[in-house]
Amino acid sequence: MQPISRRRALQLGGLGLTGIALGGTGLAWPGDSVLDPHTGARLSEPKVLRGEHGLLRVRLESAEGPLAIAGREATAYGYNGGLPGPTLRLRPGDRLQVQLVNRLDAVTNLHVHGLYVSPEGNGDNVFVAVQPGESFDYDYQLPDDHPPGVYWYHPHHHGMVADQVFGGLYGAIIVEDPDELPVTRERVLVVSDITLDDAGRLRQPSTMARMMGREGELVLVNGQVRPALSARPAARERWRIINACSARYLRLRLDGQQMQLLGIDSGRFPQPRDVDEVVLATGNRADLLVTAAEGTSTLDGLAVDRGSAGMMGGSGTASGNVGALATLRVTGTPGPELPAMPAQPSPVDLRGVEPAARRRLTFAMGMGGGGMSFTIDGKEFDAQRIDQTVQVGTVEEWTLTNASSMDHPVHLHVWPMQIVGEAGRPVDGVIRQDVVNVPARSDVTVRVAFDEFGGRTVYHCHILDHEDNGMMGVVEARRAS
Ligand code: C2O
Ligand code: CU
Ligand code: CU
Repeated sequence: MQPISRRRALQLGGLGLTGIALGGTGLAWPGDSVLDPHTGARLSEPKVLRGEHGLLRVRLESAEGPLAIAGREATAYGYNGGLPGPTLRLRPGDRLQVQLVNRLDAVTNLHVHGLYVSPEGNGDNVFVAVQPGESFDYDYQLPDDHPPGVYWYHPHHHGMVADQVFGGLYGAIIVEDPDELPVTRERVLVVSDITLDDAGRLRQPSTMARMMGREGELVLVNGQVRPALSARPAARERWRIINACSARYLRLRLDGQQMQLLGIDSGRFPQPRDVDEVVLATGNRADLLVTAAEGTSTLDGLAVDRGSAGMMGGSGTASGNVGALATLRVTGTPGPELPAMPAQPSPVDLRGVEPAARRRLTFAMGMGGGGMSFTIDGKEFDAQRIDQTVQVGTVEEWTLTNASSMDHPVHLHVWPMQIVGEAGRPVDGVIRQDVVNVPARSDVTVRVAFDEFGGRTVYHCHILDHEDNGMMGVVEARRAS
């Protein structure tokens, strides 16, 4: 047990006492450094909630309170007292009902990132505001052909998103495959970052950090620092990795092991792709197969250059090298051989469709009014304004132009984007994502099939500080009358 000084106990206030009473296993945040987390504990995974007979009903309570982070007690935000919140497992065609209860002292709401569901009414409606002490009943109907994959939920009230996600509000959503895949096991790995002070409380980022997009000092996997995983040789594991960091990009490597990507964001590639590393911008997810080989490997997070903010005195913006995020120890007698992975249907290729409209959206940062401005087509977000009107049932081509000297990972709600061009050059194959990185001073062209759902929703930079500062627009899908 970590000793806790009287001074520290006083700093922790009532929570410190709760912590001692609760755990008795050294939950209190020790010493003067946030960089003294417990490492090497066995990976724990969030509680899994799955529905029955096509319905999953969940109550999610967002609150600030004592939580276990890196094996210690910290004061942060969580859903149902956890960081991450529970994992929701769904099947195509399911209905998901979530009662969101707001026990925070700020307004919040809920977004189901990547789910192909209606953005209207009680659906994935980011214009809903749930005041402190209030609750809201969300109701999402997944279509029968909903793509399998890795999704997630997090708050989305404009102006509060970065603070609330960085504080700990996120959880995984898995949409299962129509036919189960032959794997030894599955794991959910929610990667996030956070900064705590020496009392284990959330520390507010500086103004500069908000401009660059805040990156936390602690990088967590399911709320743990450098957890340990173990497997038998030849095991085939399916890792569902979510980048839930507010701004940090992840470049993941697992040297010594075989990695194959089943898909990024939603849906799956027709065949698993052999990869040496996986880059996830904030908001992206990887559906990854790991075939275990004897030995000990580390899941490393390498540095990613995400441009520089230019006028910021030339200081570049890079997601730093975070070193080992987790360790995987492979030992024992080899597991049984598994059948080959079945091929998947090829997704529709929108390059064969003549777009009903072509648009250019320009993402920019500049000095304006009282500080830095974050705009799309020269405008900051206004929930009352409709920036793009599209027709349900049509395909459009959007060229996302980045006029700034920092990368912006652009996210569109509801409808996935197919990347068809990068910096004016066509791309190979069908790449569908819901967060697309647009490099500094460059552009990416995407095609979107605005099918199935009508209504108003948003697109934005998924560096959550940029989103909160205005880099978001409104799209309305209208049905032909
Ligand atoms: Cu993950 Cu609009 O967000
Ligand atoms: Cu989203
Ligand atoms: Cu941005």
